[in-house]
Amino acid sequence: MGIKRSLLLISIFSIVAISACARPPSDITDTPESPDSTPESPDSTPEAPDDDYSPNAPDEAADGYAPPPEAPTPSATFTILPGGSYPELDQICGATDYPIECVRFISPYLNDSIKIDPLNVLKVGIHVATNMTIEALNLAIKIREDPEISPNAQSCLRVCSENYDLIPDGNELALRAIEERNWSDLRNQLSGDLTSVNTCIDVYHEGNLASPMRDMDSDLLALYRVLLHIAVDMVKF
Ligand SMILES: *[C@@H]1O[C@H](CO)[C@@H](O)[C@H](O)[C@H]1NC(C)=O
Ligand SMILES: *[C@@H]1O[C@H](CO)[C@@H](O)[C@H](O)[C@H]1NC(C)=O
Ligand SMILES: *[C@@H]1O[C@H](CO)[C@@H](O)[C@H](O)[C@H]1NC(C)=O
Repeated sequence: MGIKRSLLLISIFSIVAISACARPPSDITDTPESPDSTPESPDSTPEAPDDDYSPNAPDEAADGYAPPPEAPTPSATFTILPGGSYPELDQICGATDYPIECVRFISPYLNDSIKIDPLNVLKVGIHVATNMTIEALNLAIKIREDPEISPNAQSCLRVCSENYDLIPDGNELALRAIEERNWSDLRNQLSGDLTSVNTCIDVYHEGNLASPMRDMDSDLLALYRVLLHIAVDMVKF
């Protein structure tokens, strides 16, 4: 019931948003996604090798992002702090589809004074998701200001900014739903956030453009799938 409704919302959302930046494949050629449009690209992310874990599982694999062979475009990555080691977190994350991302994103914000159970991991994870989204939003806004970028890239970035912009409020409502022990609202808010991330991915896919935020988006997607998994399967109010 609730899940079906969310899925329906997801599809409607995507269709509406995609039309905002899709374009005929014929004008792909005149759109250099200038490599320097991502100033803080591959800098100091120590965990980069983790990437062979491939967070974007089978469904949204790399095909949509395939950059033109002669001009590979860089993708920005999140700055993620090193985290501690917590057996309880390993166990919770191990039950999700993205155990490595789960530990990597959440462990930096745990400490010995936090009881590590699914509910607290979920709460911390939602805060992490807000911070990561703000980082992605700031980057999208910054790239948009680059006068060199094409109108199509600009309209994709606009769709992404608008969608990232919805996420912090969605996360606040998710945290409120936790306080109110409103499980269905919690699930709906998190699904809505996941949809926002997917919408940003989809516009680039449809527009045949390589997204400068594609690595960030796949990290956010992994995090939201982890959060939804914890919320749906592990949290009992
Ligand atoms: C532990 O983490 C929580 C949440 O991240 C924070 O509020 C708290 O100050 C931290 N405590 C210590 C002792 O670092
Ligand atoms: C989120 O960002 C704020 C401000 O930069 C920081 O103080 C806080 O520790 C961060 N929290 C998490 C969980 O990432
Ligand atoms: C949960 O929240 C929704 C939306 O805010 C509300 O309509 C619903 O009545 C709430 N359910 C419960 C059990 O509080």
